[in-house]
Amino acid sequence: MDAWHGKRVVVAGGAGFIGRHLVKALTDAGAEVAVVDDLSTGRDIGRVSLTIADIATVERLPIAAEVVFNLACPASPRAYQADPVQTWRTSVLGVWNLSQLALAAGARFVQASTSEVYGDPLVHPQTEDYPGNVVLNGPRACYDEGKRAAEVLLYDMARTKGLDIRVARIFNTYGPGMARDDGRALPAFIQAALAGVPLRLEGGGAQTRSFCHVDDLVRGLMSLAASGKARVLPVNLGNPDERTILDTAKLILRLTSSRSLLLDVEEAQNDPKRRWPDITRARDLLGWEPRVRFEDGVMSMIDDYALQP
Ligand SMILES: NC(=O)c1ccc[n+]([C@@H]2O[C@H](COP(=O)([O-])OP(=O)(O)OC[C@H]3O[C@@H](n4cnc5c(N)ncnc54)[C@H](O)[C@@H]3O)[C@@H](O)[C@H]2O)c1
Repeated sequence: MDAWHGKRVVVAGGAGFIGRHLVKALTDAGAEVAVVDDLSTGRDIGRVSLTIADIATVERLPIAAEVVFNLACPASPRAYQADPVQTWRTSVLGVWNLSQLALAAGARFVQASTSEVYGDPLVHPQTEDYPGNVVLNGPRACYDEGKRAAEVLLYDMARTKGLDIRVARIFNTYGPGMARDDGRALPAFIQAALAGVPLRLEGGGAQTRSFCHVDDLVRGLMSLAASGKARVLPVNLGNPDERTILDTAKLILRLTSSRSLLLDVEEAQNDPKRRWPDITRARDLLGWEPRVRFEDGVMSMIDDYALQP
C-alpha cells in the first residue's frame, strides 16, 4: 500500500493481539514503525523498536510520528476486569496523554474504540448513530465507559484543537496469535476441543456474536487511517456474519473432529445478548468489507493453536 511507504507510525499497544498483526502489515507496507506498550497483556515483538511504557504517563513519542494508532488497552473481559482502575486509567488518561503528544507532533490519531460502546444493544444491527445501552456501574463499565469517554475527548479535541482523528469501533476480532488465556469464546472453545474437554457455553450459547478475522480488521484499520473521508465520524469495523455461540461451538467441534461435550454454564453478568455491526459507513467511505470466510478463519486459528499448544 503506497499510502504507508516511508510513513513514520507509532502503534501504542503494538505488542498485543491486533497490534502485532497491524505492526506486521504496516512494516510490510514500508512504514517505519515504533511501538509503545507496557506489556501488561502483550509480549515483545522483536521486529520493531519497542518502548516499554504506560500510555497514561509516557512523556514523548519514540519517533516523529505522522500517524499514532492507539490500541493500548486490554480487550478481553477477563483482562480488563482484572484491574478495572488501571483499565479506566488506560482508556481515559492514556488517550488524554497520547492525544496531547499526537497533537504536538501534528500526527493523525487513530483510536481503537469498540462495539462495547453500544453496551447490550436494544437495536440490531448497530449503526454508528445508535447511542448505546450501557450499564454505568457494573463489571464491564471500566472498559465500556472508559472507551466512551475516550471518544468524547477525541471528538472535542478534533473540534476545538484541530486534532486529526479517526475512530474505529471494532467488533469481536479473532485469529492466529490470540492469547490462550483470553477467556472469550473462540480461544476457549478451540483449546477445549483440541484437548477433548467440555466446551463451556454460558447461558446455553443462545447469545450471538459477529466475528471478524484479524486480517480483515487490520486492512480496515489501515484504510480508515489513510482515508480523508472519515474525519470525526466513528466507523464500525466488524463482520456482519452473525452466529449464535452454540453454532460456533458446534462448528469448532466439526472442524477439529473433536468429541468434546457441550456444557451449559451460568451466564456472565451484563454479557450482551446480541452483537451485529451495520458496516454501511465502512463500505461507503472506505470501500471496506470483510473477506475471510468464518470457517477458513477459524481453521487458521485451530492450526495456530494446534502447532503451539
Ligand atoms: N480483540 C477484540 O476483539 C477487540 C474488539 C474491540 C476493540 N478492541 C480494541 O483493540 C485494541 C487492541 O485489542 P487486542 O485484542 O489486541 O488486545 P490485547 O490485550 O491483546 O492488546 C492490548 C495491548 O495494549 C497493551 N497495554 C494495555 N494497557 C496499556 C497501557 N496502559 N500502556 C501501554 N500499553 C498498554 C498490552 O500490553 C497489549 O500489548 C484495544 O484497544 C481494544 O479495546 C479489540
